[in-house]
Amino acid sequence: MLADTHDHIPIAAPDLGVEEEEAVLAVLRSGRLAQGPEVEALEEEFAEAAGIGHVVAVANGTVALQAALHAAGVGPGDEVLVPDFTFAATANAVIAVGAVPVFVDIDEHFLLDLDAAAAKVTSATSAILPVHLYGLMVDMAAVEAFASRHGLAVVEDAAQAHLAWRAGRPAGGTGIGAFSLYATKNMTTGEGGLVTTSDAEVANRLRRFRNHGMVSRYEHEEWGLNLRLTDLAAAIGRVQLRKLPEATERRRRNARYFSEHLPEMFRTPQVPDDAHHVFHQYVVRVPAEIRDDVLAAFRERNVGADVYYPTPLDHQKAFGGYARRDCPAAERAAAEVIALPVHARVGRDERERIVAAAREIAEEMT
Ligand SMILES: Cc1ncc(COP(=O)(O)O)c(C=O)c1O
Repeated sequence: MLADTHDHIPIAAPDLGVEEEEAVLAVLRSGRLAQGPEVEALEEEFAEAAGIGHVVAVANGTVALQAALHAAGVGPGDEVLVPDFTFAATANAVIAVGAVPVFVDIDEHFLLDLDAAAAKVTSATSAILPVHLYGLMVDMAAVEAFASRHGLAVVEDAAQAHLAWRAGRPAGGTGIGAFSLYATKNMTTGEGGLVTTSDAEVANRLRRFRNHGMVSRYEHEEWGLNLRLTDLAAAIGRVQLRKLPEATERRRRNARYFSEHLPEMFRTPQVPDDAHHVFHQYVVRVPAEIRDDVLAAFRERNVGADVYYPTPLDHQKAFGGYARRDCPAAERAAAEVIALPVHARVGRDERERIVAAAREIAEEMT
């Protein structure tokens, strides 16, 4: 499936073909490049596929989070509970609305731990922002109960969780959801993002914020930004969305194979019974002392393994001002994780090569 990339199995590889090319050409030839009918169609089609009432397309996943927080009423003086183990965009979006990210430790699934979150609630806490990391959804019924107990808004970072669900709830369907359409994501438009909500008034607020607060031509009801997605990008996204269910099944099949065949040295991801994991990443743990050697050994064998993420956010200089460094599970995860290529272009040959490499490495290291 990766014949064009020769021997190397990359950690991510967008699945783009003639259909995407034709869709882009059609938009180019229409002469209508900025936000237009393709964006509107992508929004409707994603809403339908995800089973969420309203979708607002934006320029990337980071501004999707920013817009979601803004629409949730989060602003200066507020604290937002975010997991310590995620991509920096989660915390940067909080800062973008003038609020303060408060870093919370994670559970055994790499997801925000509600017991740890409870200890960090203050009178300034206004929202909770769980991340469906690697494509596994947080238990949103529990988050919802927690949020209503503490009077918090809920924003979901679903950047890695397109079409994931848990206990009958779709990712992005409980709070205001933010998806990324970045090049390495389960579906892509190069750069792009989607905000989801079941509340029509929130959707209107998001649409205004996306377009300078305009309600009609040059009538600005409130301040806003230009967060618009182009029709060129949306045209790619519509094709990607049509392919997504099958691409997701391929990811899940690869994950199943790894979990059945990887040697014991690799602690494989445990999926809660009520979760439909979409495996944006397939992440194993190995002892921290050998993690970097194992990573190098995969790479020597042309397997593009990688680490998401090597440094918890409360250890980052960027967030030093807020840091307490009290998230030991996040520190452990950062030291132990290795992601293996699981994407839709990994076929039978590649997954067998990855497992063969893992067996060799396990033999060498144990
Ligand atoms: C967990 C998480 N949150 C937010 C983002 C931000 O998305 P984007 O890169 O589209 O701005 C990403 C992706 O990069 C992500 O993985």
